[in-house]
Amino acid sequence: MEAVITAITDSGEIRVFELSPRDGAPLPAYQAGAHLDLTLGNGMQRQYSLCCAQPSPHSYRIAVKREPQSRGGSAWLHTEARVGTVLPIGAPRNAFALMPQARQHLLFAGGIGITPILSMAYELLRRGQPFELHYFVRDAAALAFAEELRAAPLARHVRLAVGLGAEAAAARIQTTLYTAQAEGTQVYVCGPPGFMDTVKTRAAARLGAAAVHAESFSAPAGGGDDQPFILRLLRSGRDITVPAGETALASLQAAGLDVECSCEVGVCGSCRLGVADGVPEHRDAVLSEQERNSNRCFMPCVSRSRTPVLQIDL
Ligand code: FES
Repeated sequence: MEAVITAITDSGEIRVFELSPRDGAPLPAYQAGAHLDLTLGNGMQRQYSLCCAQPSPHSYRIAVKREPQSRGGSAWLHTEARVGTVLPIGAPRNAFALMPQARQHLLFAGGIGITPILSMAYELLRRGQPFELHYFVRDAAALAFAEELRAAPLARHVRLAVGLGAEAAAARIQTTLYTAQAEGTQVYVCGPPGFMDTVKTRAAARLGAAAVHAESFSAPAGGGDDQPFILRLLRSGRDITVPAGETALASLQAAGLDVECSCEVGVCGSCRLGVADGVPEHRDAVLSEQERNSNRCFMPCVSRSRTPVLQIDL
């Protein structure tokens, strides 16, 4: 499917893009928290969270921060993309959905992590469910969607934290978590790794790991002392060696196996494989704690194995 950029606006340090279907056909529906795969003009494929106020079959909205360390995605969108640029897109996918059983939702966003959180906030407004949106930014210039966040009816749910250092931010997060009801509260977090770690650790201590949901834009780094291991294919019994310094995904592809993939950095969820035996070493930012602890699935684009052999459902 192809989308055309119909509007570009700047909001704080981010650039907001409106996309419409090139052929006028309705766009696939999605739930709050979903992201979109875009193929950029430089050939790179990137994922961006959808942040529309109201899902529409006629347009998507994404927001992109210009990252100084950009691997090429945000730099291309900030410098090359124009109104009228056509981009191939995939169907929206969601690994960060709102939990239907919650009595209260606590949304934590750090910096550009506001994008999926914003669409969740709008969805909760529509549902009339209780929620708070805690948005942490380095300074006022980093504040995205300021007008929307300060306008009714969103404003009464929004708590801005501007310019707090790490300690003060951690204290604010802790206070928020401990003043929330312990029963029935679900926590959602998206933002930089350190911020997410703080929220996840403290929320899990207060509410249990199952109540904590995270969306990351980068997977945790590996240990740097990777060991080779064997992937044993369940259906054929074939063994494929994954050497140190090569990903399991690359080894599978080199062996002629067709594994779906997109981001290749452990954040999109598209390469997920079932595990029949062995213990994965999870390095992705997609799976929940429950899924990790089950040892029943792993992301071969970044994750490895703790056992010499990992039998996979392939
Ligand atoms: S390709 Fe995106 S998680 Fe593996």
